[in-house]
Amino acid sequence: MRRYHVTTFGCQMNVHDSERIKGMLEAAGLGEAPDRDEADVLVFNTCTIREKADDRLVQHLHDARGRKDRDPDLQVVVAGCWAESQREAIFKDFPWVDAAVGPGRISSLGDAMRADGERRGAFGSFDDFAADLPQRRERNFQAWLQLSMGCNSVCSYCIVPSVRGRERSRHPREVLAEARSLAVDGVVELMLLGQNVNSYGRDLPPAERCTFAEMLRGVDAIDGISRIRFMSPHPKDMRGDVIAAMAESDAVCEQLHLPLQSGSSRILKRMRRTYDQGRYLDLVGRLRHAMPDIALTTDVIVGFPGETEQDFQDTLDVYEAVGFDHAFTFIYSPRNGTEAAGFEDQVPDAVKHERLERLVDVVQRHAAARNAALVGTVQEVLSEGPSRTDPHVSRGKTRGNKTALFTPAAAAGTTVQVRIEETTSQTVRGTVESPVPA
Ligand code: 5AD
Ligand code: SF4
Repeated sequence: MRRYHVTTFGCQMNVHDSERIKGMLEAAGLGEAPDRDEADVLVFNTCTIREKADDRLVQHLHDARGRKDRDPDLQVVVAGCWAESQREAIFKDFPWVDAAVGPGRISSLGDAMRADGERRGAFGSFDDFAADLPQRRERNFQAWLQLSMGCNSVCSYCIVPSVRGRERSRHPREVLAEARSLAVDGVVELMLLGQNVNSYGRDLPPAERCTFAEMLRGVDAIDGISRIRFMSPHPKDMRGDVIAAMAESDAVCEQLHLPLQSGSSRILKRMRRTYDQGRYLDLVGRLRHAMPDIALTTDVIVGFPGETEQDFQDTLDVYEAVGFDHAFTFIYSPRNGTEAAGFEDQVPDAVKHERLERLVDVVQRHAAARNAALVGTVQEVLSEGPSRTDPHVSRGKTRGNKTALFTPAAAAGTTVQVRIEETTSQTVRGTVESPVPA
């Protein structure tokens, strides 16, 4: 039996697409190899969001070429956003790549692997949902649920719309049917996915229209689903109906990833984010009013073209004012074909790095403080099994999406109440409360 190995880069949408890729390869009779060295088919599901992602992938492809020189039967397959962005040049620049498919063409993977010449590549055309393909889930109690694909925003730094196409929402009936069947399979936690998840439904024909808020309520009503998260929302689409649906749906976790990108209204405008500092802070206020314990995380880009010291200071000020639980921090990376890559006033690398360091200090300080505030509280934790270092300690996630370590150990997929005793900026740690007799 030929064996495959999939290496996944990038966002959760890619992680989910990789489950579909694995499902398809297994349906075609392949088995999974434990690591790249033992595989006959190497699949790279790629990301191109920043230059660093590209560089890493190219290194992997060169390693694969070395292996292929020794073993000509090895197949090298590239899927995902980088493949789409390189559609014109991929087989010329990397002639040892056997097949390549963009994120809208995962269903063509098998055909591309069997084909010769040009047909080894399948790109563009975002007609079919990967969601309709077989999948192989990593965990039986958690699942991704794809609501939409593509993105209609025009953020000036971002390459995603050009590699994932325009936004298309899945039919609500299909989404809810998948959610129900996952629940029947024993899934308790769902992560709703979309490039811009909370603009879900706007492109559906009026007779079938379902808003994101309605979808949250619909999934919340499914028996057995006790945790719902979603990613990534855009602040512009975080309207009152969504906030109310979050607050009123028991299963929706008290947690939100709300990408800020910059705290400077001037930079936000150049990024084409369509909100400014005031509107973002107002939104945080409304979220906290509705859900006082909500954990907020965010994405921040430093060194966007034209960012002055004052603009960066605005970002730090917003960060301090919100007091996020955590953040992903990025150095701006110009992407070919995006509007911002053409801006004249690119920020020097040294300045970008210096700002990133200052921001990371603030992020760490708030992460430590937000976690420390949980000492003494009892948190619901969904166990993901033993911790990496000690089988007597379990690891899981709180509803606020914090990594929790606890004793005594509990089997993966079970929910326990943990009294938090100590914390770091990365984890919270505590002891399972014995249930109080009623
Ligand atoms: N440079 C740096 N960071 C970027 N992101 C998106 N495009 C770029 C870019 N060109 C970040 C944004 C986004 C996250 C997924 O990646 O913060 O929210
Ligand atoms: Fe990377 Fe964006 Fe593609 Fe996700 S959608 S894999 S973050 S380029």
